[in-house]
Amino acid sequence: MALLKPITKLNHLSTTITTNPRTTLPRHTTIRMSSSTTTGPTKTKNSSGNNKKGVKETLLAPRFYTTDFDEMEQLFNTEMNKNLNEAEFEALLQEFKTDYNQTHFVRNKEFKEAADEMQGPLRQIFVEFLERSCTAEFSGFLLYKELGRRLKKTNPVVAEIFSLMSRDEARHAGFLNKGLSDFNLALDLGFLTKARKYTFFKPKFIFYATYLSEKIGYWRYITIYRHLKANPEYQCYPIFKYFENWCQDENRHGDFFSALMKAQPQFLNDWKAKLWARFFCLSVYPPLCSHIYFCIPKGSC
Ligand SMILES: [Fe+2]
Ligand SMILES: [Fe+2]
Repeated sequence: MALLKPITKLNHLSTTITTNPRTTLPRHTTIRMSSSTTTGPTKTKNSSGNNKKGVKETLLAPRFYTTDFDEMEQLFNTEMNKNLNEAEFEALLQEFKTDYNQTHFVRNKEFKEAADEMQGPLRQIFVEFLERSCTAEFSGFLLYKELGRRLKKTNPVVAEIFSLMSRDEARHAGFLNKGLSDFNLALDLGFLTKARKYTFFKPKFIFYATYLSEKIGYWRYITIYRHLKANPEYQCYPIFKYFENWCQDENRHGDFFSALMKAQPQFLNDWKAKLWARFFCLSVYPPLCSHIYFCIPKGSC
């Protein structure tokens, strides 16, 4: 499709977050997500004999996005846009460079033990939760990595922030994929990068959608964390204990998009912008809420 611009040169990046050696073990199943909307789960065998399970796409499945990178370059050109607050972006960059969660995502033996104990419908629904979360985080990684690459010459500070946000999302996706390995599964992120359809959004809509995804993502993670801390009997898997620090990454990402949008007042201040913002609020919020409702064990929410 003419509107879809493939993101290129990302294959080597995707491999950086699939370094879990367990994903190569024959007893593991590699999950691939088909771009078809009609096929159900299928199994194929690759050359090494591993089972690969196709996963049906649904309305709730997170999408991959691409945008008009030429327009993005114009929006972040400091010569053309005097609204860009360079001091604010410098401060944000220092914050991202601090890398507060550098040593946060360390696993322990509780993960595998909890996965082995989880059986029946809970196990199935939890695997779906991990798959969707991993795909959503990986989607952010791809978009931010490409923006970091494309804006390097126009606005090196903004470009570096995008690259550091892609670092965070890669870390999140990798941690979730390691969670899948506890269930003898792995998302084939290299395959997803190449095979999945990308949804094109103009920069304005990328700003609305990603700002809301990040901020709602923050509230989603912290709400789950607080609920399970207050009700530890529902703590079925240790990944939730990591959400308190994890959500701060998403909050920082949202703050960055907030600063970006302040530099683009034309996207915020007229009646059309206000209507679009409301539309995106409606379209981003329900899928995320449904995600929590359908994927977190019933009775625990
Ligand atoms: Fe994330
Ligand atoms: Fe994020």
